[in-house]
Amino acid sequence: MSARSECAAAPGQALDLARLRADFPILQQQINGHRLAFLDSAASAQRPAAVIEAVADYYRHDHANVHRGVHTLSHRATEAYEGARDKVRRFINAASTREIVFTRGTTEAINLVANSLGQGWSAGDNVVISHLEHHSNIVPWQMLAERVGIELRVIPIDRRGELQLDALPGLLDERSRLLSIAHVSNALGTVNPVKELVALARERGVPTLVDGAQAVPHGPVDVAAIGCDFYAFSGHKMYGPTGIGVLYGREALLAQMPPWQGGGDMILSVSFSGTTYNELPYRFEAGTPHIAGAVGLGAAVDYLAALGMQRIAAHEQQLLDYATARLAEIPGLELVGTARHKAGVLSFNIEGIHPHDLGTILDHQGVAIRTGHHCAMPVMEFFGIAGTARASLGLYNGRDDIDQLVAGLHTAIEMFR
Ligand SMILES: Cc1ncc(COP(=O)(O)O)c(C=O)c1O
Repeated sequence: MSARSECAAAPGQALDLARLRADFPILQQQINGHRLAFLDSAASAQRPAAVIEAVADYYRHDHANVHRGVHTLSHRATEAYEGARDKVRRFINAASTREIVFTRGTTEAINLVANSLGQGWSAGDNVVISHLEHHSNIVPWQMLAERVGIELRVIPIDRRGELQLDALPGLLDERSRLLSIAHVSNALGTVNPVKELVALARERGVPTLVDGAQAVPHGPVDVAAIGCDFYAFSGHKMYGPTGIGVLYGREALLAQMPPWQGGGDMILSVSFSGTTYNELPYRFEAGTPHIAGAVGLGAAVDYLAALGMQRIAAHEQQLLDYATARLAEIPGLELVGTARHKAGVLSFNIEGIHPHDLGTILDHQGVAIRTGHHCAMPVMEFFGIAGTARASLGLYNGRDDIDQLVAGLHTAIEMFR
């Protein structure tokens, strides 16, 4: 945590954007001759120097393999890796580090649950998801459907992009093995009422998984308060490294689940007559882990915690309101996803201009947005569109970024008229 970011986060004050942006080296450059307005944090956020330096420091001074060495560097690496696990535990208010499994990201976390918890499922069992899901919370269940014949049930959405909650009780029954639901939609920004959804499933004895990839970077997340059994998220969307993520799992449930990958570190003993598996969480971390990734993730957690998740959420919410109002001024622009409770995602189309053309024209003006289906093709299908242009907010964005986006959109409209 740099002294600079601490200054940018005096308690009770709004974020000091100018000082905070100085923490992000990548934002200091020009793109195509313009200041960079990075509005693609939902795909992957940028890293503060504190994260970059933590990873570099680890490689410079402390690297060795973890958990099995007696030498000093191995001790240091293990301490750094396990220290990061405890930072993550505190950050999401999990009860124990046994509940924090490091994965490659959200995708791997969900696949872990599908391949481990799912081992006990059979034809006729069902998993309930929603129409809003990212492909990573659809395809693992479809693969299980192909393998063992489970049924996939889908909570419908309405034209605002909100879940039709009334449908859920009718979808859950005694063969429901899991409710697996996004906290925040990456394609539309809809914030789902996960606490309510989880409570409904729990009343019926159905375990729950929350895909928090788009929630953890943008506001406080408390897994105990949500009450879910699993919570998955990715380091690279929360200002940490790529290739590292987390599966939170309630200990009582994780303890009953079989491992899904075999190899080193996940065992206590191996002989040709059989293997005993390691304790939690190592049983789910086969092979040499992404130690530097975990260290960087720990640094990202420190960075976010010092800024304050409430303050970040307030800043992004204000900016979302501003951006929504500014986009409404643009002729022919249609916002896709107008939920009453939204996070900082603005998906839109402009009449007569393909989203990819928009993205390219904006790039020429230094504005980075995402275009396409955003790995949520069922959402696009629901709205009858091939894709959208999507501007997504991070803690370093300000009104200047939105103004640059809006100016770029006007240029695009002029070019196409
Ligand atoms: C809601 C949601 N879930 C899951 C994922 C997959 O994350 P990752 O590619 O980091 O595993 C994403 C990535 O965009 C996402 O937005």
